[in-house]
Amino acid sequence: MNNAQDIIIFGGAGDLSFRKLLPALYMAHSHDKLSPATRIIGIGRQNWSAEEYRQFIDQHSPAFIEQGAMNVTDWQSFLSRLLYVRIDVTQSSDFNALKAMCPQSCLRVFYLATAPSLFTGICAHLSQAGLVDLQSRVVLEKPLGTDLASARQINTEVAKYFDEKQIYRIDHYLGKETVQNLMVLRFGNAIFEPLWRAPFIKSVQITVAETVGVGSRAGFYDGAGAMRDMVQNHLLQLLCIVAMESPISLDADDVRDEKLKVLRSLRKMRLADVKRDTVRGQYTEGASDGAPAISYIQEDNVPADSRTETFVALRAHINNARWGNVPFFLRTGKRMQKRQSEIIIEFADQAFSIFGPSAHHVPNRLIIRLQPEESIQLEMMVKQPGSGMNLSPVKLGLDLQSSSDIRRAEAYERLLMDVIKGRLTHFMRRDELEAAWTWVEPILAGWRELNDKPRGYAAGSWGPAASSALMARENLCWFEEA
Ligand code: BG6
Repeated sequence: MNNAQDIIIFGGAGDLSFRKLLPALYMAHSHDKLSPATRIIGIGRQNWSAEEYRQFIDQHSPAFIEQGAMNVTDWQSFLSRLLYVRIDVTQSSDFNALKAMCPQSCLRVFYLATAPSLFTGICAHLSQAGLVDLQSRVVLEKPLGTDLASARQINTEVAKYFDEKQIYRIDHYLGKETVQNLMVLRFGNAIFEPLWRAPFIKSVQITVAETVGVGSRAGFYDGAGAMRDMVQNHLLQLLCIVAMESPISLDADDVRDEKLKVLRSLRKMRLADVKRDTVRGQYTEGASDGAPAISYIQEDNVPADSRTETFVALRAHINNARWGNVPFFLRTGKRMQKRQSEIIIEFADQAFSIFGPSAHHVPNRLIIRLQPEESIQLEMMVKQPGSGMNLSPVKLGLDLQSSSDIRRAEAYERLLMDVIKGRLTHFMRRDELEAAWTWVEPILAGWRELNDKPRGYAAGSWGPAASSALMARENLCWFEEA
């Protein structure tokens, strides 16, 4: 078998490459997961030699390699896999230099870590240069478009050169260990399935809270906001895995068919729903991780009158028999109090309690924590020691981090290995992506129509008060506030 492989990274010197992709490839290399014939070819506009590119990566990437994983010998042998080609991606003739260094028979993975506006041009030029064959694969980084029309346009253009089975739309949340584990929790344990539905579940909360601000990414972020940057992809993907029916197998299309059904079942928001069921926020001055933090509009390259949201909370509804009237609360924000990503399944109240109203009976909760540490906890009622029948919640916990000695690969490493192995299960299919945009668009349009100004929230808080009010309306509260 010829296992020559080239991983060709457009945007090879960009942030994503040196912070995530190269460190992930290094981890794969140092654990012998890359075949000896794998080359990594960075593409960029800088007039660099391969040696200069290696020096750049050597300077910038080690800081992003997990502690204890750096080994000088491995790192040097990893760097020797790196090559570099200078290409202005708008110039088709520049692609000949890449063609000249690529062997005829080789698995080529093109990773497009560039602005999405460049995707279609790159694909066209690769094809014209004769670099795309039936075994080639293309990885498309998010954001894939800014709305349904632009996402469709990118998909249509890319489809001229790559078959759907060659297209890997990456959402790194699908590469996280706990997210993949969620499928096992749901479909590998008989005890949950009968209860995983209305009326046994009262509500579902999905929170992805970050403490970081926008940093140096305002150029991209100010035109996107939290809805496009996080909700349209990461949070909706989490919602799909919580809500989907059991797929008939783990084959990519079987899993993606089920996720698609969830996205299509999301109740479309009308203007009144947008007004009632969504909250946008923007961080103001405050403190984060113990240090003073500036407001969003004081960040570099953010216009002083920016109305971009750095926080979104919303109440979604899935129109199907499994989920009946169960509300799904989604929340994400930058500069929040803690870095904490979790899914809370709150089970229904007991129909009748023999312990009486003063017993502090609270509903059972399943707390699935994705970040910073991975754990699953089931909150159950037990008797408080002593006389009387007083109840208190206790957590039955599974610490996933220390439950196994097997190394837990980071999301990008896992997903890159999936691309090399041709496994599409944890990537988004075209119809899924478009269904997600179809649901998100009326919300974005609603905000525009309502001329909705984001509500301020102090950096280091849990978001605007209106976010708590969204839950309080239904006698619920966000988990961290309990
Ligand atoms: C990215 C967003 O997709 O995900 C960033 O563009 C965000 O804004 C990041 O910070 C969060 O990822 P993680 O893995 O750190 O939760």
